[in-house]
Amino acid sequence: MVDLSVEIGGVKFKNPVVVASATPTMDAIRMKHGIDGGAGAVIAKSLFGEGGRLGRQFPRPRFKLIDYREYPGYPNKLPHAFTLRSLEECSAFDYPTYMDDINRTKDLIKDDGVVIASLSGSSLAEWVEMCELVNKTGADWVELNNSCPFAQDMGVKMGAGAVDVTYEAVKTCADILKKPFSVKITPQTNNPVDVAKQVEAAGAYAVNMSARFSGVIIDIETAKPIPFGSMGGYGGPYLIGYGLKLISQAAKELKIPLIAGLGVWDWRDIIAYTMCGASLVQSAVGIMLQGYKVAGRWVDSMSAWMEAKGYKSLNEIRGMALPNIVKTANVPRKPDNIKAVINTSKCTKCGTCLRSCFYDAITLTKAGAVINAELCDVCGMCVEVCPEYAAELKYV
Ligand SMILES: Cc1cc2nc3c(=O)[nH]c(=O)nc-3n(C[C@H](O)[C@H](O)[C@H](O)COP(=O)(O)O)c2cc1C
Ligand code: SF4
Ligand code: SF4
Repeated sequence: MVDLSVEIGGVKFKNPVVVASATPTMDAIRMKHGIDGGAGAVIAKSLFGEGGRLGRQFPRPRFKLIDYREYPGYPNKLPHAFTLRSLEECSAFDYPTYMDDINRTKDLIKDDGVVIASLSGSSLAEWVEMCELVNKTGADWVELNNSCPFAQDMGVKMGAGAVDVTYEAVKTCADILKKPFSVKITPQTNNPVDVAKQVEAAGAYAVNMSARFSGVIIDIETAKPIPFGSMGGYGGPYLIGYGLKLISQAAKELKIPLIAGLGVWDWRDIIAYTMCGASLVQSAVGIMLQGYKVAGRWVDSMSAWMEAKGYKSLNEIRGMALPNIVKTANVPRKPDNIKAVINTSKCTKCGTCLRSCFYDAITLTKAGAVINAELCDVCGMCVEVCPEYAAELKYV
């Protein structure tokens, strides 16, 4: 039996899958769906301080999927890389309604899952007020959300626009909070790991590195941004490489547990994040488009994979990839024991590899594509583009 549980600050998560703070956690009923769907924890949508209350009302429409429906086989087959653009800043609730809803969530979920309240202040006074209020609720854990990509554009000193006050805000909250807490930071700074270190120094139990970017998409027929006119959240599974980089860098420098999650789309992503050092892995877009029950399927698939590999707990694989991520300067250069070859029995002479070989090393013959070893740089592009898997690398 594989043990997928994680313990941080005395709080036990039955598995590392967390429903991220987003539309699927907008209220108690939805958060219950998240735990019933198989997740170990839910992070409520963020409560913004009064300064950011404009964010409690959303534009209509507020979602735009890029490169999603065009995928061949949709809706039975879903793409593995796409973008969800959105503008949905915070919970629609005011302070008392939010605190009541957190209590209701805990009443519904009981000990089946961990309930996390998410707060985002735009001044120290707001942080203080919200922490005092959340102390009186049944939340198991609190997340201080200092990551919102939109707040700055709304004219409030919050989230990604308040990185310079991270330490001060977290330290203030740390002195008030009577519950374990994490801090969610933005990836939109020069060095997010430095910000994570401030969070650690200020006393956080864990750091959540999974906030999205903001971006804009232009409709060239109207020259207007779609769908709501301004910058907006910009993210989706295509971002996972950046998320894994952030986690692996943070894991090498921080002692506190890490919460990961940018771009999770299937269970393999959760394993990969764990191998890069994450303790908990969250998903927003993955759950929004595959449904709450995908969390349970991820848990089952992870268990089955770990069992087949002989791993008994997540501790055995956490950080496993870190020693394999070398510095760019240490990557072997120009190894001469590899060559590219084409298996002409598979080649359909489609010509795809020719247009992407910038060394002019491929010619089409009657038998199929052939590589001139003198010209070939072994860049690997023909192997990547060949639709028939006819081009391959051989180690000699
Ligand atoms: C529609 C939407 C609403 C979100 N709302 C919040 C929020 O209220 N608070 C927060 O901390 N993060 C919010 N997020 C960010 C997610 O919690 C998560 O960090 C992010 O989407 C990255 O994970 P993903 O790639 O699995 O979506 C939101 C994301 C989306 C897509
Ligand atoms: S490996 Fe690169 S250089 Fe060599 S044939 Fe393929 S595409 Fe051309
Ligand atoms: S892409 Fe593949 S199938 Fe097409 S010509 Fe090149 S080797 Fe042949």
